[in-house]
Amino acid sequence: MAQGPDVENANGEWAPPGVDTSVAHSARMYDWWIGGKDNFAADRAMGAAFAQAIPSIRTMARENRNFLERVVRYLVDEAGIRQFLDIGTGIPTRPNVHEIAQSMAPEARVVYVDNDPIVLAHARALLTSGEHGRTAYIDADMRQSARLFADPSLLETLDLSKPVGLLMIAVLMLIDDADDPWSDVRTLMDALPSGSCIAITHPGQDFDPEAMAAVVAAATQGGMTLAPRRREEVARFFDGWELVEPGVVPVMTWHPENDEALDAPNAAYYWAGVARKP
Ligand SMILES: C[S@@+](CC[C@H](N)C(=O)[O-])C[C@H]1O[C@@H](n2cnc3c(N)ncnc32)[C@H](O)[C@@H]1O
Repeated sequence: MAQGPDVENANGEWAPPGVDTSVAHSARMYDWWIGGKDNFAADRAMGAAFAQAIPSIRTMARENRNFLERVVRYLVDEAGIRQFLDIGTGIPTRPNVHEIAQSMAPEARVVYVDNDPIVLAHARALLTSGEHGRTAYIDADMRQSARLFADPSLLETLDLSKPVGLLMIAVLMLIDDADDPWSDVRTLMDALPSGSCIAITHPGQDFDPEAMAAVVAAATQGGMTLAPRRREEVARFFDGWELVEPGVVPVMTWHPENDEALDAPNAAYYWAGVARKP
């Protein structure tokens, strides 16, 4: 996983080699919104442009991360899942999926997948499994599913004859409709056995269409794909699997841990849902 020494960019910032810091990137903008340090001037400029259109964007990112914690606990505790495939992992942020899962089930196993060099540069933090469990990191594009499911570290870490928790948290909006993310997700779902679960969060087009249009315009100008989607478009990702109650709902209202979420259920413009393979 060694990448070589960091290199200095035109702004005097130091970055791992292979990381293009001149254009904003989703993982690093998200890192900035949730208070991380692995971001650069271009990420902060685009992150600020998004925040201008949606002032609550930091809360949104935080609520998305809170959902990740809730859903991993749900999958371990109530669905009996002991192995996870986390696609679009992002820059490591404590607690990471294996830390949440292994705090409840020390034997839990997690395979992390991301295609961004900065995530790869920080992936060591994801390989700190407890001694009874196991983690792996795969530098891959989720659309190359054949390569992913043939990867030796995936096959050594996950037993594909047993249920897997497939996590696609805040990643599918980075794939355009033209590239048919529904088909990519279907291919991943088809590779998993009965009893597997999928959890998705996705920025919603329908909470504040005007603000979302401004964010999409800023993303497009910066050369970034961003496709917020309507509730029914997000619901289509789950087709054929049994949706866990309450279905596809605003992220803050999916199994909330306190009543605060219910005061402003639409404050975070993300749809969230979980489904189980029959
Ligand atoms: C906004 S971050 C989300 C991080 C984390 N899942 C979370 O919700 O806290 C999205 C991540 O998806 C990754 N990503 C985007 N497209 C991808 C693809 N086609 N294959 C794998 N990862 C991808 C990005 O590199 C980025 O790290």
